[in-house]
Amino acid sequence: MISDIKEVLYSEEQIRSKARELGKRISEDYRGQEVVCVGILKGSVMFMADLLKEIEIPCYMDFMAVSSYGNSSQSSGIVRILKDLDYEIEGKNVIVVEDIIDSGITLNYLMGYFKSRGAKSIEIACLLNKHERRKVEIDVKYLGYDVEDHFLVGYGLDFAEKYRNLPFIGILKEEVYK
Ligand code: IMP
Ligand code: MG
Repeated sequence: MISDIKEVLYSEEQIRSKARELGKRISEDYRGQEVVCVGILKGSVMFMADLLKEIEIPCYMDFMAVSSYGNSSQSSGIVRILKDLDYEIEGKNVIVVEDIIDSGITLNYLMGYFKSRGAKSIEIACLLNKHERRKVEIDVKYLGYDVEDHFLVGYGLDFAEKYRNLPFIGILKEEVYK
């Protein structure tokens, strides 16, 4: 598995300290209120766990699963809900927790969805952002890192469901997915 990685971009320690920084900001921004963090399965699980441990205000946890990729490395542009929210979010402060934004299609769709379910406020916390690849504008309030356009794996991110368990974010060698 490690031999498929071209370069390690962010170590576990770097990601943990970034999660601490973002968790602090969230705690300050929502002081005296509650938030519902919605992790997008499965890519966000590692970041979700690290981020939520750093949030010091009451914080509820929910998950959604959507699909826009299949098993290829290119977005199909179609978003399907595979697992919906467990709880109502009407009148709640929602923070969507994502691993990475590429075209922005997934998050753009989800923002509309949460709005239609009556959320009081909706913000995004995302570990990685491929700004060059954006097709729809997305405002990310809590961002970890801006990254170049490489295919990344580890720390929850996969290629064809593999590499999610790597404890760092790495660049996948091109010959593995081309
Ligand atoms: P978007 O809808 O094009 O923004 O796609 C976002 C989703 O694509 C993320 O939640 C990931 O599941 C997946 N994705 C985008 N880029 C990568 C990558 O470099 N590695 C692994 N998954 C990725
Ligand atoms: Mg994802």
